[in-house]
Amino acid sequence: MAQFKRTLVTTALPYANGPVHLGHLAGVYLPADIYVRHKRLKGEEVLHIGGSDEHGVPITITAEKEGISPRDVVDRYHRMNLEAFLKCGISFDCYGRTSSELHHETAQEFFLELERKGIFNRRTEKLFYDAEGGRFLSDRYVSGTCPICGSTEASGDQCEQCGTHLSPMELINPKSKISNATPELRDTLHWYFPLGRYQAELERFVNSHEDDWRPNVLNYTRTWLKGGLNDRAITRDLNWGIKVPLGEAEAVGKVLYVWFDAVLGYISFTRQWAEEQGDRDLWRHWWQDPETRLVQFIGKDNVVFHTLMLPAILMAWNEGREDGIYNLADNVPASEFMNFEGRKFSKSRNYAVYLGEFLQKFPADTLRYSIAMNYPENKDTDFSWTDFQNRTNGELADTLGNFIKRSIDFTNSRFGGEVPHSCTVQEWEGLGIDWYATQSQLDQAYEGFHFREAATIAMDIARAANRFLTSAEPWKAIKTDPEAAGRTMALSLNLCHALSIALYPVIPETCDRIHRMLGFKGGVDGLVRKCEPILKTLLEPALPMGHKLSPESEILFRKIEDQEIQPELQKIEQLVREAEAREAGAIEVKMEFKPAIGFDDFQKVDLRVATVRAAEKVKKASKLLKLQVQVGSTQRQVLAGVAEHYSPEEMVGKNVLLVANLAPRTIRGEISEGMLLAVEGEGGRLFMVEPQGAKINGQSVQ
Ligand code: 2FM
Ligand code: ZN
Repeated sequence: MAQFKRTLVTTALPYANGPVHLGHLAGVYLPADIYVRHKRLKGEEVLHIGGSDEHGVPITITAEKEGISPRDVVDRYHRMNLEAFLKCGISFDCYGRTSSELHHETAQEFFLELERKGIFNRRTEKLFYDAEGGRFLSDRYVSGTCPICGSTEASGDQCEQCGTHLSPMELINPKSKISNATPELRDTLHWYFPLGRYQAELERFVNSHEDDWRPNVLNYTRTWLKGGLNDRAITRDLNWGIKVPLGEAEAVGKVLYVWFDAVLGYISFTRQWAEEQGDRDLWRHWWQDPETRLVQFIGKDNVVFHTLMLPAILMAWNEGREDGIYNLADNVPASEFMNFEGRKFSKSRNYAVYLGEFLQKFPADTLRYSIAMNYPENKDTDFSWTDFQNRTNGELADTLGNFIKRSIDFTNSRFGGEVPHSCTVQEWEGLGIDWYATQSQLDQAYEGFHFREAATIAMDIARAANRFLTSAEPWKAIKTDPEAAGRTMALSLNLCHALSIALYPVIPETCDRIHRMLGFKGGVDGLVRKCEPILKTLLEPALPMGHKLSPESEILFRKIEDQEIQPELQKIEQLVREAEAREAGAIEVKMEFKPAIGFDDFQKVDLRVATVRAAEKVKKASKLLKLQVQVGSTQRQVLAGVAEHYSPEEMVGKNVLLVANLAPRTIRGEISEGMLLAVEGEGGRLFMVEPQGAKINGQSVQ
């Protein structure tokens, strides 16, 4: 592997169109943060860049639905997501926004450079246009009937019901979501990026990572490469986004396609960070120095945008240049999905636990630890409330928390709050932990993006520490051999210190607290910012004899009671029921009932079974049929509004339900002596109520 001086870490930019959920955290943001924090522990130079993706049609659709501006939407969710990430301890160096001026400038600069080099193709194509709304309709603005499953609510990009990816032209009976009008096809000009032109270069690039990229990343990418890369439209007819920066008339009303601009966000946010550092050119180190490694954390649904699209844009930029050459990704650790209680997270189906909400109830580190232990590294995993509760109560509270508290409390009460002994390396190694191997396994696990393994190795230190303290029994030894008890406590305190280092990438806030209880001022966070190789301190006991602890100890983890989990489990059951009902095609109908009536009132209604003997249409009343019905031995004439649903021939011979004592009324000059009961079905279709097996004419209905 090439030697690098520094690492730039980027995380996929979540759309500022809704709150991030635990699935996002598990796939992208937590693994990236663990990785970054590990690098900081080693004293390496690392920069962590993220931010909000603030363009794209889903945002304008949300704005229109809520009657607010797209700016309001992105302001709301950018703030909300940033707050949730910070509360979760995700340590971005910069969390930017694609709606910022600097980002617009950066994306336009790329567009103009590629346009200047004559790289784009221009093509005129026919797209749906809403003549009433006066605008072209992007895919998601068109709805209609799915040609595959017949759902009448398919969107122009995908049918939610059957999951088929569609183009708007494939929809049956397409309608504009803006005006509900039937859209027409009109010519429009667009800029295309010729991805195929970079096919060979991209293949070489991907093949050069044969050994270090994950199999899922190679597979997705190679499937695309095998299919042959085509031109991709990189402009859209929209008014929310980055304007196509050309003066010509054809460019008016067009913006850059959201994916073209979003992937450049990583660059513009690094520029923003550099400006914030007071050195505008500092970003170049991170993007244009070949000694910088670029690692891009993403979910599996974003792979080709990062392994083909962004590299191709950068190749196009780099073509023919002597300097200002951008680095391509060195690794793109795409995760699989973490499901939730056995089902996929789905924002559109509201099946999710949102990060901000979760952190109002439970501490960040309990979530970070559980998710690290469920990291979807190479297969989908599952997060469950019970697993979360068990890990918090068992591994975090009983194993880790208890050991730390016992060590600190006993030293405070019996040794005046000072490390009572100077541990030798032999004693440290005599603990039965191979520190050298542990440190190198931890390092390899973190560096190889095996975060579950890393968290397990670190937690194994806590298990070994507990075993050591329990079997050494210093509370007994203090009476007979205080020196031995002192040696035990000195080793235990050094183990507390080692744990605060080994677990820091996963549970940083807790490790800071351990550090403070051990008498250090700034916590581990303060230390790592000094770029010293702290991970190495595991190799030797770090606390000298006489080192003073803080007189206060705290309970690191509060146990989660069943009562706290119960409502969450009930909520899940409810969400699952709703999801199943939706999957079964059941439509939620809001029922509004008329005011209650008494039984006496109901008894006044005389319901009878009647047989239709004759039926005919009524002139100038397209909805009415004139029916002659037999009730017992009497004949009645009834007008029924079912002509659009039944022909006269279909009605003859039917046994139907008649309200027999409804006062006669004259309708269109004809008398109606009663009313037939019908129910409304799908699409407003009426169905006569036909009692099965009711043979006796005029039978009353109980
Ligand atoms: O899938 C998404 O949520 C996209 N907003 C990710 C964009 S990643 C990058 F390209 F900016
Ligand atoms: Zn469908």
